[in-house]
Amino acid sequence: MCGIFVYSGKREDTAKNILAGLKILEYRGYDSWGIAVKPVDQTFLAVEKHIGKIGEATTGLPTSTIGIGHTRWATHGGVTDQNAHPHTNEDKTIAVVHNGIVENHQELRRMLRKKGYEFVSETDSEVLAHLIDHLMNNEKKSFAESVFSCFNMINGSNAIVALSAKLNEIVACRNGSPLVAGIGDDETILASDVTAIIPYTRKVHYLQDGEGVHIKNSKLPLHRLSDMLFLNLETEMIEWSVENAQKGGYPHYMLKEIFEQKKTISQAVNINREIIEKVSEIVTKAKKVYISGCGTAYHCSLLGSYFFAKSGISASAIPANEFDAFSKTISDNSVFIAISQSGETADTLLAVKSAKSKGAKIVAIINARGSTLERLADYHIPVNTGPEIAVVSTKAFTAQSAVLFALSNKSNLQKFDDLENVLSEWLNINLQEKVFGVAKSLIDSKNIFVIGKYLQFVTALESALKVKEASYIHAEGFAAGELKHGVISLVEKGTPVMVLADEDTKNDVLSSATEMKSRGAKILGIAPFNAPEFDTHIQTPELGELTYLGNVIVGQILGYALSVGRGCDPDKPRNLAKSVTVK
Ligand code: M6R
Repeated sequence: MCGIFVYSGKREDTAKNILAGLKILEYRGYDSWGIAVKPVDQTFLAVEKHIGKIGEATTGLPTSTIGIGHTRWATHGGVTDQNAHPHTNEDKTIAVVHNGIVENHQELRRMLRKKGYEFVSETDSEVLAHLIDHLMNNEKKSFAESVFSCFNMINGSNAIVALSAKLNEIVACRNGSPLVAGIGDDETILASDVTAIIPYTRKVHYLQDGEGVHIKNSKLPLHRLSDMLFLNLETEMIEWSVENAQKGGYPHYMLKEIFEQKKTISQAVNINREIIEKVSEIVTKAKKVYISGCGTAYHCSLLGSYFFAKSGISASAIPANEFDAFSKTISDNSVFIAISQSGETADTLLAVKSAKSKGAKIVAIINARGSTLERLADYHIPVNTGPEIAVVSTKAFTAQSAVLFALSNKSNLQKFDDLENVLSEWLNINLQEKVFGVAKSLIDSKNIFVIGKYLQFVTALESALKVKEASYIHAEGFAAGELKHGVISLVEKGTPVMVLADEDTKNDVLSSATEMKSRGAKILGIAPFNAPEFDTHIQTPELGELTYLGNVIVGQILGYALSVGRGCDPDKPRNLAKSVTVK
């Protein structure tokens, strides 16, 4: 939800480094940002906070070797300077950044108010700074003890980092919200995501729930939060390079990530053949299969339910945030397949925990590494498409859906043999220009309808979501056969309708298109074939059951083109954040 970046070490341009880290993490929240550093010649903190996106911002904070920074996705309290992090105690000797929700913040706030603490923000996070101050000054605990005790007193999924200016120390804790420690050469970095750590080091430790670190004199002892017991700091090396997390010449991450799909889809299947075969057998033997995720990941789950149905396996796709209603149907011979790009989506994690507690085997199909979901799963299949930075998800969806397709029937594995070649030839600048041309005619639309049948119905839902979240044009996906049961009453002269089709569904979908056209709709056909029903046609590759891939890629490019054409930011649409770590 929010992004945390922390630096402690040999470099003196800490504020600038934190700002650079926050720019990388900004996709996690861009309502406001802020930095606190301990200047080299002072014992109180210098703090800077701003509302809005970081953009090309610079910082004038003084020279320092230690500091913390934050990009905010507002939950408690509006988007104001006061509500921006870091939050400090009154004498500005302690600063805190926080990702998560302190569920018992009101109770803590009341307790601290009684003790004379005054609050300047409406956030749940500010209680942390005052609570640490209280534990240090009134209960005479050390800084590290105070931060750990404070963390043990709060409820909810959280990651916090506190900086003491007097001691030159940082203490960080995690329970439910991601935090990664980067171990460099005489320097330590903490971040919500490894992408911001890669410019410094590839050696990392993913903090686990219930762990905390105490950064002091460039050392990084790891503690168990419940009793401060020292733990072994197990590290691993990140495979991604700095370039993976850069735009690589593209104007936006979204476009870069769309084009990466030439490779990422088949690669996701090819690198996972062994585990796919193993999990496929488990799924085939299961009494009940559930597939779940949120947003785009839920659409991916829906695709999975069609794939499995084709193989004669009944699998229910359920939005993770609705799963509770179905949890009683789980038995210990059930398999729960969780789809998540980040592996940190709170709603998905809750559904997984519920399914696991009832005895289901958990399979996770994830992109980001080292996530909470990865650890919760009995089997995890990493699609490894590299960092997906645009808030609008593209390459994770296609890679995860490809893995589901392969899981549904092992013989599908061979259908990926030539995919990279076909996509590489088709997904090029000519296609981009063609879609941009079509987007021009849709740019002032108030509503766009997107229809399809079976896999193309799901592709329609996903394409509509891309258009909505990236361009703010209302777009709605429908099952073509449903139109005549109500939706068609919305169609009038000039209504734009995108028709996603493949050979399997051609006749039915074209007949729905005719019904729309005869009521004045303008039909944009997205399919491997042209048809008289289409006023405009965008050609996609004929890939048999995988034709949905080309069709959804066109939906993604269209969402991107409409976003750019309407002056929106496709990488950071308003009100959204990449990783939704709150319920
Ligand atoms: O990280 P996850 O895949 O669990 O995220 C789930 C959704 O929040 C995500 O897919 C969201 O719908 C995207 N904005 C879609 O583009």
